[in-house]
Amino acid sequence: MKIKLLFLTIFLTAILLDASAREDKINVIPEPVAVKTTDGEFILDKNVRLVTNSGSADVSNLIQNFKKKIEVPTGINLPIASNSNGKNISLEINESWDEALGDEGYRLNVSESSVSLRANTSKGLFYGIQTILQLLPVEIESSHKTDKVSWKIPCVEILDYPRFGWRGLMLDVSRHFFTKGEVLRYLDEMARYKYNRLHLHLADDQGWRIEIKALPNLTKTGAWRVERTGLYGDLLPAFEHEPATDGGFYTQEDMKEIIAYAAKLHIVILPEIDVPAHSLALIASYPGLSCTQKQYSVVAGRRGPYVDNVLCVGNETVFEKLDTIFTEIANLFPCKYIHIGGDEADKSFWENCPKCQKRMCEEHLDNSKELQSYFVKRMEKMLKAKGKKLIGWDEILEGGLAPEATVMSWRGMQGGIEAAKQKHHVIMTPQRFCYLDLYQSDRSAEPPTYGMCLLSKSYSLEPVPEGVDDGLILGGQGNLWTESVPNYRQVQYMTWPRALALAEVFWSPKQNKNWEHFVSKVENQFQRFDLLNIKYARSFYNPIISVNSSGYRDVSVSLSTEIEGLVIYYSFDNINPDEFYPKYEGEPLTFPQGASMLKAVTYRGGKQVGSIVSITKEGAKQRLKEASGMW
Ligand code: ACM
Ligand code: ZN
Repeated sequence: MKIKLLFLTIFLTAILLDASAREDKINVIPEPVAVKTTDGEFILDKNVRLVTNSGSADVSNLIQNFKKKIEVPTGINLPIASNSNGKNISLEINESWDEALGDEGYRLNVSESSVSLRANTSKGLFYGIQTILQLLPVEIESSHKTDKVSWKIPCVEILDYPRFGWRGLMLDVSRHFFTKGEVLRYLDEMARYKYNRLHLHLADDQGWRIEIKALPNLTKTGAWRVERTGLYGDLLPAFEHEPATDGGFYTQEDMKEIIAYAAKLHIVILPEIDVPAHSLALIASYPGLSCTQKQYSVVAGRRGPYVDNVLCVGNETVFEKLDTIFTEIANLFPCKYIHIGGDEADKSFWENCPKCQKRMCEEHLDNSKELQSYFVKRMEKMLKAKGKKLIGWDEILEGGLAPEATVMSWRGMQGGIEAAKQKHHVIMTPQRFCYLDLYQSDRSAEPPTYGMCLLSKSYSLEPVPEGVDDGLILGGQGNLWTESVPNYRQVQYMTWPRALALAEVFWSPKQNKNWEHFVSKVENQFQRFDLLNIKYARSFYNPIISVNSSGYRDVSVSLSTEIEGLVIYYSFDNINPDEFYPKYEGEPLTFPQGASMLKAVTYRGGKQVGSIVSITKEGAKQRLKEASGMW
């Protein structure tokens, strides 16, 4: 026993020593479970052959794609061999189940003479390939042949498998429509970091995005709105007789293509049709489904306060329409779950509606929260009859949870904690950590949006709250709402690098998280994004502005940085500062007499790395007021 302990200590010490040595060699996101580097490297040259023990179409497809990916930048056309003599990259499916790996894990051994990747399933091999690509020089991402690169992989032993089975991103395709091609691109980007769920928010007040053959108005009317450009909050509704020409939708054939493409990347598409609220596109397409029964148009921006985007729960026609919709959704999407939304229902419309009141009487419901619960429970039965399980946002807890519902906890962790207490499954997407539509650095350096979610905040998420049964937490998700995201380049900018942080949160063991190492890995990914033409936010280089009150009706401003090793310079003279301006030394700054604007910038190694951030004296006072509010 003592000897075993001694060996364990030596092994753990070796791993700890190894952790510092591997800093610049092993830049894998998400961080694997166990990494052990040794000296030397595997040189990828034309003598290398690809070998497999599997005859499956999945593995053969994987090998072909890997071969193509390698050939573009290296010019090396790796032959596929049937025996393992010589210098190989071998991809093997284990003949007997390797308990440690489950169905998504893999073991990777790289020596000077071979690369051996083993897994129980083709899924595991797929994730192992993503790791191999990240171990190769960044130029492996180049779209053309790149000379003068030594194509080598450091010698390493990796054992890897995910912490959670649900590792998702959500893309809101309603507020802005993104084409089929853009969704496929998003899937490609996600797969690199071992994400396995894409939640598509397919319907909201600003557009209906999926063909329902039995209800053609949904895409004839519901998918289109008037052309508007500008700030979300300023986008006016339609003028009289103004044509609705902006929008789009996926035909069922498009969606089948998206689903099949995703499946090859081991990503499941989760469809969301948001009801009973956020339903203006449906209500505009089939008038009479809301309590006021008014005719509305799909909106480009915010809906007005008197526009009822909520379905009437007292109206049987509503349930007939929903049955038609969810029949087609259930047939189209292989995912065992369907997301029904359930968030942010303005219950005042129900409270003033005779039909809803009648329903409450008949069903002995005491209040409008119970009416919402009635609605969700009925939706659960409807989905169950179609062989599907229900997911809803955490508002579905109000008035009593449907018996088998899974809760997506967005207004914090509390909804998830409560659902888990009731023994329900939970997917954690707490807004402050997971909402990719929030600001990612000072608002003066970012396109307009709201709130704040720094990269380090996303990285700090722990999806399993203290005292909660971790078996009930399926995993988590980063959610990109697109009210202020008008094009695909901005989708990328808002997603990366925060989705790198979340990928590590959802995949890697908690104890493997290391912010400094993560930051250096993110910088490695930035070089890859550049080669892949993926737009990303360099926001973690920007100075952070914090406002403090300093005495009677005055403010002071502190500056800091999210990452180590940056130097801040600042100005009060309205000029963009550079390294010849005063260096920030850590003490709060007050506005000198007559100065109205503070500007700041970061440098590293004599070069500007961040954008200039700024705040006016008035703005600082305003922020102090806001700080006492939600954010
Ligand atoms: C939500 O953000 N309303 C789910
Ligand atoms: Zn009603």
